[in-house]
Amino acid sequence: MVKKNACVFISGSGTNLKALIKSSREYNFPINISYIVSNTKKAKGIKFAKLHKIPFHILSLKRIIDLEFFLKELKSKNIFIICLAGYMKILNKKFINKFNKKIINIHPSLLPKYKGLNTFQRVLKNKEKLTGCTVHYVNDKLDSGKIILQKRINVEPNDSEQALRVKVQAKEYKAYSESIIHIFR
Ligand code: GRF
Repeated sequence: MVKKNACVFISGSGTNLKALIKSSREYNFPINISYIVSNTKKAKGIKFAKLHKIPFHILSLKRIIDLEFFLKELKSKNIFIICLAGYMKILNKKFINKFNKKIINIHPSLLPKYKGLNTFQRVLKNKEKLTGCTVHYVNDKLDSGKIILQKRINVEPNDSEQALRVKVQAKEYKAYSESIIHIFR
């Protein structure tokens, strides 16, 4: 199968990146992760780029000149989709408009509920019985683009924040790969 080139953006531990790399090694998976971007050199997930010898770049995208340069770079690398995986910066509106390919994100709640940070904490505080994760297209409003796929989990009365995180993230790894298959079907 001819795979499309993908770029994954991270900021932290990179466990979704790890799961995506694993899926991308499967023959029938539609994307090849050919570039990884982190806004900080402290992101633990960079180790997966090194381990799998995938080129990575530390980039802030704050200055317009960085943005223009980076867009050219994505074009030269023939990047067809950007997957945000725990990327903690809000993408510049100009960047979203100028990169005229797909950009998707994974979020640890059942959007439109619990946009933004501290989702597990807020889910527990509100005594929700159900939560989960959402893969969605990225637009210029936070966690608001068109939903591609959601997966649910039950919140048990004794669940801690960490317990919820573990359960939701296990679903995230499946949801992200399934969404990508869905997009390119
Ligand atoms: C995930 O829970 C994702 O939903 C959120 O940030 C977390 C990233 O975790 N956007 P990791 O870096 O993939 O381990």
